[in-house]
Amino acid sequence: MKILAVAGSPRRGGNSDALLEQAIAGATHAGAEVELVVLSGLKVAPCIGCERCFADGRCAVKDDYQALYDKALEADGFILASPVYFTNVSGWTKAFIDRFQCLWALRFVLKQPVPLPVGGQKRRAIFLATAGSASTRFDCTFSTVRALFSTLDATWVGSVCVNNIDEKGAVSGHPELLQEAHLLGAKLVTEP
Ligand SMILES: Cc1cc2nc3c(=O)[nH]c(=O)nc-3n(C[C@H](O)[C@H](O)[C@H](O)COP(=O)(O)O)c2cc1C
Repeated sequence: MKILAVAGSPRRGGNSDALLEQAIAGATHAGAEVELVVLSGLKVAPCIGCERCFADGRCAVKDDYQALYDKALEADGFILASPVYFTNVSGWTKAFIDRFQCLWALRFVLKQPVPLPVGGQKRRAIFLATAGSASTRFDCTFSTVRALFSTLDATWVGSVCVNNIDEKGAVSGHPELLQEAHLLGAKLVTEP
């Protein structure tokens, strides 16, 4: 099983990275081959709404998204990790998500199915998020991520969302949350 893991925080070694690292470890331990991509190290410009994807289902903007699109469609599993920024996913993550407008166009303008991943089974996905405020409920992030997973025609297997965690690396002081992320990574691979 091939999995694409996407780090949406620009703060390397931060809280969402720590959850992601655990989920990757869990998935790898369960037998998957995982590739990690760090959005802040790549050039993924925001969608410009040009609608050129309405003609062929491919994004016309040439940057690192092109390769990410191919990897996302090839992968049997998808892990998305992001901090909460102004109640939603980070700007890096949102720009990446918006670029899947070309896949939306493939499905809903061109009426073509999403290609199945390499393993031939329905794609599966999990979401990991961290937030600083104790009152954050992740509802905005869930709406956004649900739209992405649905566009990818992926089953939402689960999520680990931790609030009240601000300082860099503070999530590492909560081994039970790291364990939860580890188990979810494994579940992404093993659950039928
Ligand atoms: C630009 C910015 C906006 C943020 N907005 C929120 C927010 O709306 N709600 C919240 O609970 N935390 C917010 N935070 C705090 C982060 O979500 C929190 O520190 C998180 O654990 C960072 O994860 P990371 O270490 O993976 O980057 C914000 C942080 C930044 C830098």
